[in-house]
Amino acid sequence: MKIIDGKTTAELIKNEIKTEVAAIIDKYNSAPHLAAILVGEDPASNTYVNNKEKDCRSVGMTSSVYRMSSRTSEEELLRTIAFLNEDEQIHGFIVQLPLPEHINVDRIIAAINPNKDVDGFHPINLGRMMLGQDSFLPATPFGILELLKRYNIETKGKNCVVLGRSNIVGTPLSIMLSRKNDPGNSTVTLCHSYSNNLADITRQADILIAAIGKPEFVTKEMIKENATVIDVGIHRVVDHEKNSGYKLIGDVKFDEVAPKCNYITPVPGGVGPMTRIALLLNTLKAFRKTTGIS
Ligand SMILES: NC(=O)c1ccc[n+]([C@@H]2O[C@H](COP(=O)([O-])OP(=O)(O)OC[C@H]3O[C@@H](n4cnc5c(N)ncnc54)[C@H](OP(=O)(O)O)[C@@H]3O)[C@@H](O)[C@H]2O)c1
Repeated sequence: MKIIDGKTTAELIKNEIKTEVAAIIDKYNSAPHLAAILVGEDPASNTYVNNKEKDCRSVGMTSSVYRMSSRTSEEELLRTIAFLNEDEQIHGFIVQLPLPEHINVDRIIAAINPNKDVDGFHPINLGRMMLGQDSFLPATPFGILELLKRYNIETKGKNCVVLGRSNIVGTPLSIMLSRKNDPGNSTVTLCHSYSNNLADITRQADILIAAIGKPEFVTKEMIKENATVIDVGIHRVVDHEKNSGYKLIGDVKFDEVAPKCNYITPVPGGVGPMTRIALLLNTLKAFRKTTGIS
């Protein structure tokens, strides 16, 4: 069994990005600039946005955060998006989700300039991705494909089972894995809460991706011998032995599943760091797209 080390892989890619950004600054005296809009005071969202700023700084990119009150109206948010769409100093931006309930998230995402949509959530980017055209890929699936690539895990002709069909992880990943591409060319089964006989399906998987949002849902009985298991789930559970008072676990019961696997991602240190790196890769791409600098 081999652990897929997302943390080390992310660091490696971070260094590659750092080198590219330094070369861009050297040549053009301009750094890729990622902006984030944060509406409300949700602590988890605040942490995610702070991490994005930290990641940008660590590779020499510029970042800025537009903090808006939880009472911000949809119209006000749309105005901020229109401003960022036009601002030539900002190459890519994200609207941190979730948004307060009074705001229509579909309307917000549709208002983002697709060429600056570094989350890859705009219908135009998702449509382009589905057609195999150049697009921004949603960060988590993009990060997972990059991990498979860097570990030389063959996807061609394999049975891939994706557990969970969210718009940000399961659904785009199932499409990316089934495209005529490398990684890709898999036979993909996408499972959700109405799937029957789940374990019978997951036991067929050469590559199983768990993005179900249920702590330790995937057990050893659900795994084929020598499978590759990618655990997307992140859950905080109480752990009095840790200074923080909690630990992170995934959607997979790691201790019993790992011995059956060829490859497996841990939680933490698997998919999470790669999601963060994928956003930086998309920001670099947005810089090139919006400035025409290659
Ligand atoms: N590591 C990272 O960077 C990262 C990034 C994003 C998310 N996450 C984590 O990944 C997990 C999934 O998040 P998400 O946003 O993709 O998913 P989500 O929106 O929570 O959706 C969960 C999906 O799992 C399906 N599901 C739920 N219970 C099921 C069951 N018993 N059997 C089969 N399918 C079931 C749901 O089916 P229905 O569609 O039928 O409801 C849904 O499609 C969460 O733990 C989240 O925190 C991690």
